[in-house]
Amino acid sequence: MCGIVGYVGAQAAAPLLLEGLLKLEYRGYDSAGIAVMNDGQLLVSKVKGRIANLCEKTEGGRQVPGTIGIGHTRWATHGAPTDVNAHPHLSNDGRFAVVHNGIIENYLALREELTAKGFHFESDTDTEVIVHLLERYYAGDVKAAVIKTVSRLQGSYALGVVCADAPNTVFAAREASPLIIGLGSGEQYFASDVTALVPYTRSVLYLDDGEFAALTANGVTVFNGAGQTVDKPLQHIAWDIQAAEKDGFDHFMLKEIFEQPAAVRATIAPRMRGRAICLDDVRADDLKNIRRIVITACGSAYYAGCAGKYAIEALCRLPVQVELASELRYSDPLMDEQTLLIVLSQSGETADTIAAMKECKARGAKTLSIVNVVGSTVATLADHVLYTHAGPEIAVATTKGYTTQLAVLYLFALYMAQVQGTVSGEEFNRLFGELEQLPHRVQNALDMNPGTERLARKYGGASSVFFIGRNTDYAVALEGALKLKEISYIHAEGYAAGELKHGTIALIDEHQPVIALCCNGAVADKTVSNAVEVKARGAEVLAVTFKGDTTLAAVADDMLFVPHMEPLFAPIAEIVPLQLFAYYVARENGCDIDKPKNLAKSVTVE
Ligand code: G6P
Repeated sequence: MCGIVGYVGAQAAAPLLLEGLLKLEYRGYDSAGIAVMNDGQLLVSKVKGRIANLCEKTEGGRQVPGTIGIGHTRWATHGAPTDVNAHPHLSNDGRFAVVHNGIIENYLALREELTAKGFHFESDTDTEVIVHLLERYYAGDVKAAVIKTVSRLQGSYALGVVCADAPNTVFAAREASPLIIGLGSGEQYFASDVTALVPYTRSVLYLDDGEFAALTANGVTVFNGAGQTVDKPLQHIAWDIQAAEKDGFDHFMLKEIFEQPAAVRATIAPRMRGRAICLDDVRADDLKNIRRIVITACGSAYYAGCAGKYAIEALCRLPVQVELASELRYSDPLMDEQTLLIVLSQSGETADTIAAMKECKARGAKTLSIVNVVGSTVATLADHVLYTHAGPEIAVATTKGYTTQLAVLYLFALYMAQVQGTVSGEEFNRLFGELEQLPHRVQNALDMNPGTERLARKYGGASSVFFIGRNTDYAVALEGALKLKEISYIHAEGYAAGELKHGTIALIDEHQPVIALCCNGAVADKTVSNAVEVKARGAEVLAVTFKGDTTLAAVADDMLFVPHMEPLFAPIAEIVPLQLFAYYVARENGCDIDKPKNLAKSVTVE
């Protein structure tokens, strides 16, 4: 979704802003723009469509000289994706330019108020009220105008502001939308996402809600909402630049699929010491009194929660409820201090997830977040954080983000089982050994499906595909179907195999391939029977099963394989051939795999 960048220093700002925006491209956007200050004048350039158009329009930034500026990629919410609605927005007097991520909820009232005062609106955006408020409250002191302006805003924002009267300073403000300041030598940056900062600096500070910062070439000062200075700890970003490059792969998604063994290893290895699981700052005492677990997330993270539920319930014998964050936040959730809320998020900035988390916290839940982005909102809000060490994930469709979430959930399940006393020493050791093998299992799943590309050619022409399974296989079916639909635009549905006969089987015919997931020994035979039923109605069946399984060979038209492993943990390997399948189908169909239409990597609005 929207991205913002800012720069102040001695170099030409525009090329750096464009480069920063390109790093944020993966988040999804439909227009882009920059504003650069030159000789006390603000130069704005913005276009609908790709950043490449903006580069062309500005001749790589050369048309917009100056050493201080702000930039934006917009994902339309209020108003169509047009040049006019693109950011930055200018004040009527041309003194202020603003870029904004988030949503101003009271913008209509503010727009009316400002219109009545004679301000003229150019765009349909909620953002434009901000720049007019700045003009209205400006009386020679930009900092005071920023304080007064943000005090009028309801909703979420990460803001970048430049003012022609403050030619050496760029301002950044944050409320419920990520904003990170990067410190360089003689130059400073800000961005909504660390991937735009790592090429320039590893020293960052994270703004908290209600804070804003003034950046000059020589340094950064952070203020609270009252304008008092705040001391912020400097943090170091460990991600390397290489990790955010394609590295010879055709797409980030394919690269990230192949990075999974290493990402899973980086996530679990530091937490498995000798024969013990060490979950960072989580202690047994923190979990002893827990009687119920609620997992909340969105998208694939939600499906990781669905798979994790089976492992936690089986090992800990505690009830686990998995809730979509967008539903949980409005459900008047039942929480107490014996309920542990586990929040899953790759980005840590998903608006619904954050809102659900705040809602549950306010009702007394203890919170544990499983997050990939260090310092993100979901990480900051939680009582305890377990980071997934997937590194930057650039493709919109998550792969290593999902599998590393599963890896942490499995570690948690076994740790919690030990705390709750629901697992014998012998079983603990066996499962610990299984966990140690997870990176190899994921690697095996990558290696043992060389025919996936051929299968993608065979099934890629379908207009609709069903993924069926039971128990853990059902959880994987949901994620497998999401992968296929989001990148190939083929309708796909994950379905509980036993439910087919209650209506959906009416859709099955020879045009409707069915992918049958059969890796959960306790119920796989049942799914095989369902596969037989759909075959009898003309559907082609592509089965996913453990390597060497012969039962399915007689039923299925084609097979994808998963290495033999503990069924409770099998989803982490079982999803791998389905990720590859979705990837190759999308490639076969000529889709924009890393940036599927209408989707955003980090969904920071409701
Ligand atoms: C978007 C992404 C998905 C992701 C979901 C939740 O829809 O495209 O890949 O699963 O958001 O994101 P999160 O960052 O909270 O895991």
